This record gives sequence, structure tokens and C-alpha cells, in this order.
Amino acid sequence: MKLCMIGTGYVGLVSGVCFADLGNDVICVDKDTKKIDQLIKGKVPIYEPGLTELVTKNYKNKRLNFSTNLKKSVKDSDIIFICVGTPTKKHGSSADLSQIYNVAKEISSSINKFKIIITKSTVPLTTGDEIEKILSKKNNKKKFSVVSNPEFLREGEAIRDFIYPDRVVVGSNNKKSNRILKSLYSPLISKGASYLQTSRRAAELIKYASNAFLATKITFINEIANLCEKTGVNVEDISIGMGLDKRIGSRFLRAGPAYGGSCFPKDTKAITSTADKFKSNLSVVKSVIKSNKNRSNLLLNRVYEILGKRIKNKKITFLGVTFKANTDDMRDSSSLLMIPALSKKGAIIKYFDPTGSKKEFSNIKNVYYSKTIKYSLEDSDLVIIHTEWNDFKSINFKNLLKNKKVIIYDMRNIYTPTKIKNQGFKYYSIGR
Ligand SMILES: NC(=O)c1ccc[n+]([C@@H]2O[C@H](COP(=O)([O-])OP(=O)(O)OC[C@H]3O[C@@H](n4cnc5c(N)ncnc54)[C@H](O)[C@@H]3O)[C@@H](O)[C@H]2O)c1
Repeated sequence: MKLCMIGTGYVGLVSGVCFADLGNDVICVDKDTKKIDQLIKGKVPIYEPGLTELVTKNYKNKRLNFSTNLKKSVKDSDIIFICVGTPTKKHGSSADLSQIYNVAKEISSSINKFKIIITKSTVPLTTGDEIEKILSKKNNKKKFSVVSNPEFLREGEAIRDFIYPDRVVVGSNNKKSNRILKSLYSPLISKGASYLQTSRRAAELIKYASNAFLATKITFINEIANLCEKTGVNVEDISIGMGLDKRIGSRFLRAGPAYGGSCFPKDTKAITSTADKFKSNLSVVKSVIKSNKNRSNLLLNRVYEILGKRIKNKKITFLGVTFKANTDDMRDSSSLLMIPALSKKGAIIKYFDPTGSKKEFSNIKNVYYSKTIKYSLEDSDLVIIHTEWNDFKSINFKNLLKNKKVIIYDMRNIYTPTKIKNQGFKYYSIGR
């Protein structure tokens, strides 16, 4: 089948290359010419384990191609996946759908034969209806079908998640589209993925409801961790004890910093905003958003306390600055709040991240990128383990930190407290 992915970011590129690997002809389109030029030269612009190898393989065997020409790519394809961004609006909390509607307008003038137009981007309830209206202005309704097929992949595990998803959700009541999409996804269904065919609006809402639920789980355990800190209980025991209940499950029950990333913060806001629009109050999700916002400040205050409120000229090391491990994505990472706040109070910050230096910190006073963990730790007063990369899981602090007065604040509970304390360091973690 001939597929066109519009938007070659985390979702468009990963799903495009995986579809190509499954034997389809895929063209990945982006308006960012630099990104497309890089991809044509074999350079993958994002960090995602295994992606470069898969892009190279499928580009070489000509099943995968890249273009900036949206109209021609749409004309040449049967199935069009819209994979552009849906960030939060600058003012307010609803989703900014301008990228989606701009693409819909462009597609509209390129419908030369029957096309299935799919939103793989996370879009609020009724967006599919709006896209249909846009396309109907220039085209007979028989010439296209608008489907919602939300993507559930996680950055850092994206290829595995795409090939072995728990479920594929397809929202459409068009028989022809449903038959074609079931056939497109049949290699994943035969590997065990559940296939749910539902209404378009339900598919749109399933994605938001899932993300809001996962954000709630994280926030819940983070609040339980606060209680543990006050009562001398180990939150890890609570996570295990709760997770063993099959109705609850152990995933997304690990206490840590505020949730971040390109999805949970914007999607929790968007679903509450959509619900408000329909005069329905999602009070649970609203309080999750509030609690998560407070969490970054709460951990920041903890850092101030750990340093005895004397921040000026304190040397602080951040290990990891992305919102989670195995990605270079900085969107809504809690480091974006903590590092500038500490710099403002006069701290000198060095950070190491396996995915390199970050432009987000380039203009912030006294914030420096270190090329190795070792350099980042030199002369440090406080080491903050911010992201759970494997690279940070067996650091020999005893050898690397000569000064035993260094404090370690492990925001991911990677280390066993007694083990680090026995090495002579002051050690803090989350909820224990
Ligand atoms: N990142 C994730 O882990 C993830 C997971 C599931 C769903 N999603 C959803 O998928 C969507 C895309 O997310 P992402 O992280 O891949 O975004 P992204 O920012 O990485 O990529 C979006 C791409 O779309 C391109 N684009 C924008 N307008 C365009 C146009 N008119 N023509 C061509 N290209 C255009 C941009 O240049 C960019 O490269 C969002 O709705 C997001 O919520 C993301």
C-alpha cells in the first residue's frame, strides 16, 4: 500500500519507517527542509534507539522516501497519516489545532482518487468532524474517508511499541476504510495486538483518556511519596504492594519528578478543556494537573532545603535533563523549571545528558554542559540524578567524588540509600 506520513517527527518518522519495514511504500513529508535534507543523507534528527538502522535499511531498499512536497506526496498515496504537532495553545489550555487544519487544507486540493485521511496526531474529540468539513468544501464525500487512529508509542521504546502494540484503535464507520486498515495492521494483529474498531469520536477520546489516566497514576504515587517522606515509610514498598494487585498493575507507579514530555502535560490540559467545552467537569484530571505543577516547585524547595537555603555559588550537577530516559525530547521536562530557577538564585550548574547539550540552556547564566559524567561531577556540591538513564545506574561515586561532603539527590530512586550512605555521602531520594 502507498502511505504518506505528514509530519516527520517522533510519531511520523517512527510509524513511517515501521510501516515501510512491514512492506509498504512510504513517503514521509515535512515542511522542515533541513530535517528532510538530513534524512535523505541518512542522518536521523531525533534520538530513538534502533531508528537510524531501520531508516537506513528501508531508504536503501526504496520502501521509504522523504519529501517536502506535500501535494505531490498526497496525490501519489492511498492512505494519508496526519502526524503533525498538537501543542497547547499559547493562551489557554486547549489544543492548538492550526497545524492539523493547515494540513487538511493542503490535502484538500490534492485528492485525485479515493484517499483515507487518518489523524495519528493526538486530536480532541470532534477534530475528525472538522477535517471532514474542510475536505468536503472542495471534494465529493465519496472521494475520501476521515479516520482516527491514535498512536500509543512511547519515546525511547517507540519501535518496539509500534511493532508490538497492546492495541490498535481505529475510529471510523466507513466499511472500505475499515477493511483497508485492518489489512494494513494485520502483521501487528497476527503478532498479538488487539484491534479495536470504534467510532471516530470514541477513538479520539480513548487516546486522551488513556494519557490522562496514566498521568493520574504517576501523580497519585508522587503524592503518596510525599506522605511516605513524612512518615518514614518506603514508597517503593507501596508501589510493589499496590502493583501486585492485578486490578492496579505496577506500571506508572514509580515516584519521581513531575511528569513531563510532549504528551501528558498538553493532553491532560486539552482533555479538561474539551470537557469544559461540553459542560462536563473532569475534576480528577484538573487536580492532577495542579498537583503535577506543584511537584516541580516542591522538589525545587527540597533542593533549597538540602543546601541549607544557601544557593549562591553552590555547584550543582544534573545527571540527565530530558523528561525521561532514552529520548532527546526536552518538551515539558522538569529540568526546564529547576535549572533556570537554581541559576537565578546564583547556583553554578553543570549537566551531563547522554543525548548531548541542550539549546534550552544555552542562554542561561552559569549553566554548562559537560561531555562526560566524570567532568560533570568535578567540584560538585550537590548531584541531582534527574533522569533514569542506564548510564547513571552504576556510577562509582566513591572513586569519582573526592569530596565526601557532596550531597546526592536521587530523584529516580536508582540507588539503595544505605549503600550510598555507607560510602560516606549524604543521600536523599524520593519517598523513602
Ligand atoms: N511524541 C510522542 O511520544 C507521541 C506519542 C503518541 C502521540 N503523539 C502525538 O503525535 C503528534 C505528533 O507528535 P510528535 O512528537 O511526533 O511531534 P513533532 O513535533 O516531533 O513532529 C511534528 C512534525 O510535523 C511537522 N509539520 C508541522 N506542520 C507541517 C505541515 N504543514 N506539513 C508538513 N509537516 C509539518 C513539523 O515540522 C514536525 O517535524 C502529536 O499530536 C502528539 O501528541 C506523540
